[in-house]
Amino acid sequence: MVSLPPSPLSTSLQARLATPLSIGDFQVNSRVLQSPLSGVTDLVFRQLVRRYAPNSMMYTEMVNATGLHYVKQLPKLMEIDPNERPISIQLFDCRPDFLAEAAQMAVAEGADTVDINMGCPVNKITKNGGGSSLLRQPEIAEAIVRSVVQAVNVPVTVKTRIGWSDKEINAVEFARRMQDAGAQMLTLHGRTRAQGYNGAARWEWIARVKQALTIPVIANGDIFSVEAAVRCLEMTGADGVMCSRGTLGYPFLVGEVDHFLKTGELRQPPTPIERLQCAKDHLQMLWEYKGDRGIRQARKHMTWYAKGFMGAADLRGQLALVETLDQGVTLIEKAIAQLAQDDRTTETSLPQLSSPQFVEV
Ligand SMILES: Cc1cc2nc3c(=O)[nH]c(=O)nc-3n(C[C@H](O)[C@H](O)[C@H](O)COP(=O)(O)O)c2cc1C
Repeated sequence: MVSLPPSPLSTSLQARLATPLSIGDFQVNSRVLQSPLSGVTDLVFRQLVRRYAPNSMMYTEMVNATGLHYVKQLPKLMEIDPNERPISIQLFDCRPDFLAEAAQMAVAEGADTVDINMGCPVNKITKNGGGSSLLRQPEIAEAIVRSVVQAVNVPVTVKTRIGWSDKEINAVEFARRMQDAGAQMLTLHGRTRAQGYNGAARWEWIARVKQALTIPVIANGDIFSVEAAVRCLEMTGADGVMCSRGTLGYPFLVGEVDHFLKTGELRQPPTPIERLQCAKDHLQMLWEYKGDRGIRQARKHMTWYAKGFMGAADLRGQLALVETLDQGVTLIEKAIAQLAQDDRTTETSLPQLSSPQFVEV
């Protein structure tokens, strides 16, 4: 995929981005956030993103407050490293009391902010009254925010969508209610629940919500490149952008956007070899953190990294079946050696084609 170069930042956008992002009284020295992604943004993934974006806000995977109430012990997906800051723990549920209790656990674990998920489209969540179904029950959503704000002394934030369906787009009224209830920041994914992850994110709704609120509004949806991030910030007037699917197999994205917003310069994108080296680190770190379960989880990550070079499709097929750390490491190291060999051959025989491995496969 060829991405367009970003336009230079307008002076008004530069002025807006020159100050830290203030979430209540908590300040973040980056306007680019890594989204919560269930099954992805565990402690290991966040460590990789932080290599390139050390100042950005990150989120845990969403945690079920009812589960926390009954189990009374922190699940691994709520675990945060004492050194990782800034960090938010994301919770979902429909019960204000359970969410308040879960938020207190999140703060005890070290969360700088607590985020409430009001956007998840998955049936299993919405049929129990959580996630995006709260868009249809704004009075409950409001009660949740009030209850959590009362329970903790860190900022409470909300992540939601523009509405349930095209016939029920209520982003502006809903966002205002969240702000009035005490939310200190709102992240808006520019799709309806009915859209799932399909179709374009409608950034125009993010612009409308930004105009209606005084708390920071973070734009989310279709931020797959630096160019898209800049275009979205210009179009919406949002206070920051949140990267999501663009980071799958690409933990470099948040740092790339952050670097451009701070310096006006494009960071050199990673070569396929560098991406594979990152895939190997990811696999090793997941193994150390989760053992065999980590290897199973690493399969999808490794296939996301293996893109954009000759032989990538075959490699993905093999990586998807990996059973042990050694198997995965061996496959990746062989692919790296092959790419390095191809580079050397091309350098000596075809000096005018400097990066032949950038072939979309
Ligand atoms: C695999 C996957 C897992 C997700 N998990 C969460 C989650 O736990 N909490 C949440 O608020 N959103 C979650 N989302 C939604 C994303 O954070 C984001 O809002 C959405 O993908 C839109 O951004 P994009 O178009 O840039 O991907 C998830 C999305 C995907 C694809």
